[in-house]
Amino acid sequence: MSMQIRTFEEYKAVYQRSVEDPEGFWAEQAGSFNWRKPWDKVLDWNFRDLDVKWFIGGKLNITENCLDRHLAERGDQTAIIFEPNDPNGETTTYTYRQLYEEVCKTANALHAMGVRKGDRICFYMPMIPQLAIGVLACARIGAIHSVVFAGFSASSLSDRIKDASCKMVICSDYNRRGAKNIPVKAIVDEAVAMGCDSVETVFVHQNTGEAINWVEGRDKWWHEQVDHQQPECPAEEMDSEDMLFILYTSGSTGKPKGVVHSCGGYMVYTCYSFANVFQYQPGDIYWCTADIGWITGHSYIVYGPLLAGATTVMFEGVPTYPDAGRFWQIVEKLKVNQFYTAPTAIRALMAFGDDPVNKYDLSSIKLLGTVGEPINEEAWEWYHKVVGKEKCPIVDTWWQTETGGIMISGLGGLSPMKPSFAGYPLPGIQPCLLDGNGKEIDGNNVEGVLCMKYPWPSMIRTTYGDHERCRQTYFSSYDNMYFTGDGARRDENGMYRIIGRIDDVINVSGHRMGTAEVENAINEHPKVVESAVVGYPHDIKGQGIYAYVITLEPVNDLEGFRKELLAVVTREIGPIAKPDKIQVVSGLPKTRSGKIMRRILRKVASGETDSLGDISTLLNPEVVEEIKDGAL
Ligand code: WTA
Repeated sequence: MSMQIRTFEEYKAVYQRSVEDPEGFWAEQAGSFNWRKPWDKVLDWNFRDLDVKWFIGGKLNITENCLDRHLAERGDQTAIIFEPNDPNGETTTYTYRQLYEEVCKTANALHAMGVRKGDRICFYMPMIPQLAIGVLACARIGAIHSVVFAGFSASSLSDRIKDASCKMVICSDYNRRGAKNIPVKAIVDEAVAMGCDSVETVFVHQNTGEAINWVEGRDKWWHEQVDHQQPECPAEEMDSEDMLFILYTSGSTGKPKGVVHSCGGYMVYTCYSFANVFQYQPGDIYWCTADIGWITGHSYIVYGPLLAGATTVMFEGVPTYPDAGRFWQIVEKLKVNQFYTAPTAIRALMAFGDDPVNKYDLSSIKLLGTVGEPINEEAWEWYHKVVGKEKCPIVDTWWQTETGGIMISGLGGLSPMKPSFAGYPLPGIQPCLLDGNGKEIDGNNVEGVLCMKYPWPSMIRTTYGDHERCRQTYFSSYDNMYFTGDGARRDENGMYRIIGRIDDVINVSGHRMGTAEVENAINEHPKVVESAVVGYPHDIKGQGIYAYVITLEPVNDLEGFRKELLAVVTREIGPIAKPDKIQVVSGLPKTRSGKIMRRILRKVASGETDSLGDISTLLNPEVVEEIKDGAL
């Protein structure tokens, strides 16, 4: 268990120390883990060439720290509580010993099927225990997992499989989601058929048991491969800097990139941040409602909690099935102590009023958390009053797929809270704000571009297969800095408030999306000449997707065309990327050099047509009137 800070005074002292002597500080944290061989040097770093290494020369296996290490002391303690989609279904649990055995059996099965250290394995699965088990089984034998959120389309899945040349895809037959069963194996078949030549095996967990198509020789059943295996599996010895996993995320340009995290630093940081932000105490039941398809699920459902020896809940379903009281029913049933969710879920549930919350006994909750997007004050107040009964601290945790772990957040109950402010940096994290010229802004009550001026153990190491792209994206905008893509404000007390993305990334219901990606999908429609996508404020989703579309010929049946576009986007990316509003236009406002003036499009989409600024220098100022008149 990582060292836990217990007062705000202590936080300040520890923070100070972590900045004055980062290597000493992190060496101390790393010392509480099991290393096969200790590191020779804590840190080597160079942001300009992007070369960052932590715990150099150290050898370990992260699963020995998630599992084996706990067996003596808490082998019979519950590690995972699984709550199924069906509210009448059975809650199942895995003790640390049972989880250890399942992971070992699965690792042996993967090994028997030819999976070796360094192989990439793609997961496309629902939130069932086998997903966590499979991920840990990969880590056990040194294979690199790449989990793809099961809401992405076959086409997106295929791109991700190809980018990492995955040898195996692990999926279920069907996923349960609310009242529907989703044929995921069929989606995997379709994805693999789109030229995924690297895939030798599709490994299928039988979840619902409904009929699926079967490819002899390629497809293998989970139960047939795993059940007879030995419940012991020697862990592969990994270097600190060996890859642990790849996770694809959207940026402002091009296709999603595979963010790479490595073994040693990720282990140290996810455990340390989990223990401190959530102030987890032995015996607590901790529940993060994220999906393992996103970084939050990786770091704070699987790795962080298990490294800390916690009891972590996995929920298969959705917040509104069978009704809007589902989360609270589960909190009451499992006596959840720490509850961590996304602002979009809070806003969606808030819309149903207080009754679905008040029906349940939530007195077990000690701490509430949010993640993924800015939380507006109204949602924060509702969460605090109605869910937390004004007695639970809220941690608003700011971080990114690239950061691996929580960077700016209160430490549960210790830190001052201020609605819509993430607060102070965690120990070891050195944020700064830069002005338009890349100069650091000192002092408080200031606003700027949020960067990091010093490395931290769980930071992105590279983007898979393209190191230069990683350097360009995050380390070239400002000299010797990690660029987050977010704008932020620092108040009079030094607390940070995240304002939002300053690049062409939008955040829709906590899902990160590149506007270029959505445009590329829309442009696949044969009638589309050009499109521009922007975000606009949306009551529930945080941001909605607004698409401006130029068509080849006038559209008569607008509703029919809209449906076709939604279908194209669903096919290319997935339903999460469907535009909320589509406006057909005859042109897009462009500068004389041909660049789309997104600023204007964002203003129109947000209904701020009075403050468009000077448009006289545009190539085609007349189109702005038309766009304003037709705004939805
Ligand atoms: C946004 C999710 C405000 C931010 C862990 C960031 C937030 C992006 C917060 C990363 C927060 C995340 N307050 N904004 N507490 N947390 N964000 O990679 O814009 O899916 O850059 O990681 O989400 O999204 P990602």
